[in-house]
Amino acid sequence: MSVLEGLLNERSVMPGRYKEQSETELMTLIKQIKKEMGPRLYLPGHHYQKDEVIQFADDTGDSLKLAQLSAENKQADYIVFCGVHFMAETADILTTERQQVILPDMRAGCSMADMADEKQTRVAWEKLTDLYGETIIPLTYVNSTAAIKAFVGKHGGACVTSSNAKEIVSWALKEKKRILFLPDQHLGRNTAYDLGIPLEQMRIWNPITHELEGEATEDVKVLLWKGHCSVHENFRMEHIRMLREEEPDRAILVHPECTWEVVQGSDFAGSTSYIINMIKNAPMGSKWAIGTEMNLVKRLIKDNPHLDIVSVNPYMCPCLTMNRIDLPHLAWSLENIANNHSNNIIQVSDIIKKDAKIALNRMLELV
Ligand code: 13P
Ligand code: SF4
Repeated sequence: MSVLEGLLNERSVMPGRYKEQSETELMTLIKQIKKEMGPRLYLPGHHYQKDEVIQFADDTGDSLKLAQLSAENKQADYIVFCGVHFMAETADILTTERQQVILPDMRAGCSMADMADEKQTRVAWEKLTDLYGETIIPLTYVNSTAAIKAFVGKHGGACVTSSNAKEIVSWALKEKKRILFLPDQHLGRNTAYDLGIPLEQMRIWNPITHELEGEATEDVKVLLWKGHCSVHENFRMEHIRMLREEEPDRAILVHPECTWEVVQGSDFAGSTSYIINMIKNAPMGSKWAIGTEMNLVKRLIKDNPHLDIVSVNPYMCPCLTMNRIDLPHLAWSLENIANNHSNNIIQVSDIIKKDAKIALNRMLELV
């Protein structure tokens, strides 16, 4: 079920009474259902989820870890995914027929994933293969719809996450001369640059005008889909300059969904897990400015009082779609499951599932 189909279903609207219950009542209800259902219920939680939700997660992780954990879990009947829609779709693709994947709020989409649709991708592929023949392999960040993953799987490509992008891009460039990287231009550019590919050998594909930005020269190796994360794009060079000027001893650590300029201006860049590990191993009293989603940054600040941590952008907000998952929606989903009346079930069609699984499994086998 797509985000839109989900929203058109009247059962995806939570009854008002859950909003009227106190935090304590909701927490008691969630605890009780979790206890009653035991391992039949599994709650994976992405690191960008709010604390009120993450406290109930059976496992937390970045998108790679959550994809791996979903593939491994054969025990749970119900997987209530505390994350966004594309993550729940991935879980549905990687779990068995018998297991039900549920997203507590169907409005928890991802603006980046919505920046590439199937029709745009088909047009891009036709035009780019006209220009470059059979020399392109498609890769998609897992932050994409199941339909895009299926397209990529069908055309010999693989998925990537921010933790394994380097390995997968290296693999892809051994398979074919060029890659088409969807939908995040920044992760694609930062990864390829890290692997030694100069910016001059990269071009942007504009899915709105259906055109390549710049000349289609023979030396081009990386075709970057013009998409971005609306959260990570809020870390800008002005923030980096200000930090460098005011506190030159504060280390800057950002996610590769930030722009190339911001990544180049930082001291360290890496996936959500990389950021967490850097902070875990940071020396006592060290000073950090972190450029990633705010629920995670706030948690790192709270859990590490021996460090001095700030956000790269002092006015940063959390990811609004990740934040759709809250205590009332979690309690509502669990109560529906307990009453054998699950709602917001994420079900990828068999035809899409088959090809999307190829792209996901290629990634999981390579890392
Ligand atoms: P990772 O979990 O791969 O670091 O991705 C970050 C993100 O934006 C998830 O939506
Ligand atoms: Fe999408 Fe960015 Fe939010 Fe991740 S942080 S879910 S990529 S909008």
